[in-house]
Amino acid sequence: MASSASPRSATATAVVAVVVAAALCLHGATAQLCEDYYYDTCPDAYDIVKQVLIQAHESDVRIYASLIRLHFHDCFVQGCDASLLLDTVPGMQSEKESPPNNGSARGYEVVDAAKAALEDACPGVVSCADILAIASEISVELSGGPSWGVLLGRLDGKTSDFNGSLDLPAPFENLTELQRKFKDVGLNDVDLVALSGAHTFGRVQCQNVAAGMADRLYNFSGTNMPDPTLDSAYRAFLSRRCPKNVNGEVLNDLDPTTPDTFDNHYYTNIEVNRGFLISDQELKSSPQAQGTTAPIVDRFAGSQDAFFASFAQSMINMGNIRPVTDPSQGEVRTNCRRVN
Ligand code: HEM
Ligand SMILES: *[C@@H]1O[C@H](CO)[C@@H](O)[C@H](O)[C@H]1NC(C)=O
Ligand SMILES: *[C@@H]1O[C@H](CO)[C@@H](O)[C@H](O)[C@H]1NC(C)=O
Ligand SMILES: *[C@@H]1O[C@H](CO)[C@@H](O)[C@H](O)[C@H]1NC(C)=O
Ligand SMILES: *[C@@H]1O[C@H](CO)[C@@H](O)[C@H](O)[C@H]1NC(C)=O
Repeated sequence: MASSASPRSATATAVVAVVVAAALCLHGATAQLCEDYYYDTCPDAYDIVKQVLIQAHESDVRIYASLIRLHFHDCFVQGCDASLLLDTVPGMQSEKESPPNNGSARGYEVVDAAKAALEDACPGVVSCADILAIASEISVELSGGPSWGVLLGRLDGKTSDFNGSLDLPAPFENLTELQRKFKDVGLNDVDLVALSGAHTFGRVQCQNVAAGMADRLYNFSGTNMPDPTLDSAYRAFLSRRCPKNVNGEVLNDLDPTTPDTFDNHYYTNIEVNRGFLISDQELKSSPQAQGTTAPIVDRFAGSQDAFFASFAQSMINMGNIRPVTDPSQGEVRTNCRRVN
């Protein structure tokens, strides 16, 4: 992988040309994100965030996975504007408290620590939305995944959209629903399959495989039977970890083969019917997947380089969802939890 001095690895060279095309910071009417946005105002921003993450990881191996999930849940609701990070205030309930986030989204304290370190070094300069984008890249790279040039220059929004976060992609959704939700934010089938590959690390609670609409172990689709697609040995393993109607908060590895490594095992697991969530296995096993997402799963299962190149590009695509660049619409928060 990349040397510590370089934010790019050889694996990601395929995407460099694309990144460079978007890297120029054009100030003016057509503001867009760019790689060197903080070149003059906070040149060490990347390294400052990296040190905070490395330190957090010493006592929390899961933190890298948790941080990239924050970026995903931020970007899919109102765009990448750090709306997820705002705490509830009278008259505005935070996205944090909605079911897709409450009790599962985590890492806020580490974002706060990164923000505090950046405020020390360059007060009022680096947005919380950009911190999530930078932290995602660092997290993937430090876990063995690809690196890419992170596009920067997002401002932080001033509202959190609780209702909007109710529409986040859900673990029990079928391929058609997932495709629709990604398309709604401008992401295509390659993005859906590549970004789902982030489930190569991190944890998942039993309730997402053993309860309610997500139940694959005991009552799949209301049949009172397990999900017939699920590999039977893996089902037996998960049933021991997640007994029926027992503690739904028990944690499991999303990728039991290499739980904390960013590799392509997410796809090789799916190939042998060992995807964890319904939404994971749908990418390969849905009837609608034939000719659409299944060939992409096959390609990434067969080539980690192909996965890494697509993942880097799709992270840039996700990071480009409706960024706030108009200063009348946003700000650089001093504290990621509240508007200035
Ligand atoms: C395709 C639709 C997706 C669905 C339905 C989905 C659903 C979920 C669920 C239910 C969990 C477990 C939460 C818990 O039990 O606490 C989870 C964890 C996670 N998701 Fe996704 N996800 C999706 C896409 C993504 C994307 C696009 C990313 C990032 C690019 C991502 C990154 C992660 C990571 C890293 C974790 C583990 C987090 C941790 O350990 O703290 N997911 N996801
Ligand atoms: C969030 O989860 C906590 C702990 O499970 C619970 O007490 C609280 O009521 C939940 N908040 C909302 C808004 O549902
Ligand atoms: C959120 O949805 C609820 C229920 O549909 C509605 O009563 C409420 O006004 C909505 N809140 C906002 C801020 O749009
Ligand atoms: C996918 O889920 C939606 C929403 O539940 C449902 O209306 C649709 O019929 C499902 N599509 C397929 C192909 O199962
Ligand atoms: C199984 O799921 C169906 C539909 O969600 C529900 O009506 C039924 O009560 C569930 N069965 C059990 C035993 O929980």
